[in-house]
Amino acid sequence: MERTLVLLKPDAVQRRLVGRIISRFEEKGLKIVALKMMRVPRELAERHYAEHREKPFFGELVSFITSAPIVAMVVEGPKAIETVRRMMGKTNPMEADPGTIRGDYGLSITMNLVHGSDSPQTAAREIPIFFAPEEILDYDIADREWLGG
Ligand code: RTP
Ligand code: MG
Repeated sequence: MERTLVLLKPDAVQRRLVGRIISRFEEKGLKIVALKMMRVPRELAERHYAEHREKPFFGELVSFITSAPIVAMVVEGPKAIETVRRMMGKTNPMEADPGTIRGDYGLSITMNLVHGSDSPQTAAREIPIFFAPEEILDYDIADREWLGG
């Protein structure tokens, strides 16, 4: 079963949208296998967003993600990476479809509420940045046989 790193960014916490956003993933049938609230240290933020180091928005991105607490999760399910990305919507919330998290709640490309790994390779790199192996739980969930996949 596929796993992906999901971050509820500082704006999601500050706007008290954490419960709503987590509910969307739960209602979809995805399984949360790790969850914590944390303040992201600068070094960790720079490592997580290393692919954007040369981009003009890198400084703003790092200062935003380190500005206040976030919620980090590992979410598991069939095609979890693509499923989460589709639920998030386009990077720019002004272009994200209604019904997506960014489309429903966002207006700012920096404060766009949520992060999700964009490929299996990215998920494999990102998950260990935020979680030690023992923080990720292997467990059976009661409705599994009714969800397929
Ligand atoms: P994320 O990594 O946060 O899940 O977002 P994403 O894949 O949809 O977008 P990505 O291209 O990876 O960009 C990472 C984050 O950088 C900020 N950004 N700002 N000012 C800008 O032009 C700009 N472009 C991107 C966004 O917060 C984006 O989520
Ligand atoms: Mg990205």
